[in-house]
Amino acid sequence: MSGHPQTLEDLLSPSVTDLASWSELHAHHTRVADLSVRDLVAAEPERSKQCALMAAGIHADWSRQRIDQQGMELLRKVALERDIPTHIADMFDGVKINNTEQRAVLHTVLRADPDSSVIVDGRDVVPDVQEVLTRMRDFTRSVVTGSYVGVTGKKFTDVVNIGIGGSDLGPVMVTEALKGFQVGLRPHFISNVDPTDAFEVLRELNPETTLVLIASKTFTTAETMANATQVLAWLKNGLPTASNHAGHLAALSTAIDKAAQMGIPEERVFGFWDWVGGRYSVSSAIGLSIMLAVGEENFDEFLAGMHAMDEHFRASPIESNLPVTMALLGIWNRNFLDIPTLAVLPYEQYLHRVPAYLQQLTMESNGKRVDADGQEVPVQTAAVLWGEPGTNGQHSFHQMIHQGTQPIAADVIAFAQSAHDFAGQHATLLANALAQIQVMAFGRTEAELVAAGVPAALVAHKTMPGNRPCTLLLAQQLTPATLGALIALYEHITFVQGVIWGINSFDQWGVEYGKEVATALTPYVSGDVDLPPTMEPLTRASLQVLRNLRAQS
Ligand code: F6P
Repeated sequence: MSGHPQTLEDLLSPSVTDLASWSELHAHHTRVADLSVRDLVAAEPERSKQCALMAAGIHADWSRQRIDQQGMELLRKVALERDIPTHIADMFDGVKINNTEQRAVLHTVLRADPDSSVIVDGRDVVPDVQEVLTRMRDFTRSVVTGSYVGVTGKKFTDVVNIGIGGSDLGPVMVTEALKGFQVGLRPHFISNVDPTDAFEVLRELNPETTLVLIASKTFTTAETMANATQVLAWLKNGLPTASNHAGHLAALSTAIDKAAQMGIPEERVFGFWDWVGGRYSVSSAIGLSIMLAVGEENFDEFLAGMHAMDEHFRASPIESNLPVTMALLGIWNRNFLDIPTLAVLPYEQYLHRVPAYLQQLTMESNGKRVDADGQEVPVQTAAVLWGEPGTNGQHSFHQMIHQGTQPIAADVIAFAQSAHDFAGQHATLLANALAQIQVMAFGRTEAELVAAGVPAALVAHKTMPGNRPCTLLLAQQLTPATLGALIALYEHITFVQGVIWGINSFDQWGVEYGKEVATALTPYVSGDVDLPPTMEPLTRASLQVLRNLRAQS
């Protein structure tokens, strides 16, 4: 234990706007608010060197961000006054920083050095993590080699992961990203309660050769339980009557007892712990579908990449700490440049589900209005995160990035080497990535357009203001390790921003009430129960429309 205060409240007060460094930063912003990226490049000839860091195989270049060196120094002062190094140490050491649920936050232990130790409530949890990992590897090996087969003696060829949120988005994103490393089962994912999701997945599969993972931290999530029921029926119908369909089931959960109640034998229940948040669980047993798809070696490489970024984050001083730097740039864009959204634009098709994954990670963590003390946060918190791979986005929303009225910040991700050798196309992809960030940063001025001979009537229409702040993340190639480092980078960015805003990034009370309302409404949608006059009138009216439409069919 780092000997630091026990609760987040002890650590987080005062409010961020009470920090002396925040006021200094505000004064600085007043002075530099109109500075453009063009001005910064002219004023700082060494900018490309000053605005670059390499960490865990990822090269980050923030020279196109609208921040000068002095501004970066003042941002780092905020991080120091907020005592970020202490918060980092406390997270890694298992301090219960999730104060509203009184839990530690230890997703970093899931990929920690097996020889390390982290104590939670008097117990070293590293051996527990290693025990689950060993069981996951043994199970994966038995399935992939065919020593463990389905109830009709056939080898498993496909794995279906039933889960939602953090029990789905991470496995989907990683198995898509590492498609080129697939050596085992074909992964499939069912998440939405919409029966279309299960229908479209199951219609392609043979129950005899399909392994089913029920992935749910709590083992209570309505969508997952409904889909599990659907898939269990599909298994039963597709397997010989007398067979024990549980042979095709495994569970990934903290609720070991609930998984057992579903008839899943203990040896196929892979546990994790309440100090692993759902949106931080991809490196836990929730990742079993990934291991079954890419094999234990590649999964271990993924964990090693995450660990490399963890160690960088833990050991690096503020001024050379990549997660802290990118977190601070996000604070500057959100709270000073007043940019409400962040576009994550992977110029790598394999990363097409990364924006969706990062949406839960960042927006479920920091989409909050009160701080850890329950006081309204006096500044804007999480930006809306969105994005699609390049070059497709260029034919969709890049128009708005370049000429919209609301500036948009962007993180562009690219790899120097392609996973394929399709002649020349990767070079074209990279050229587009560099072109887009150049236009985002510098735009195109009226003078340049006139000099280019653009007709006067079109000059205004072709003018682009630029100054869309962008960070370029480059790595040599997409491997399990660089993917792991990239994901851990964003986990730690999210953590640092939450600390600076003073919020608890690890609970999600905002999603609870909607679930309650849905449960209460379901009988009125599915049945013809009279709508009570006391029902919320707008919902009541919509239910009536639904009923009328259903009656027409
Ligand atoms: O969205 C709410 C949430 O609790 C997420 O935090 C979580 O990842 C998801 O639902 C699924 O929860 P579980 O893994 O417990 O089914």
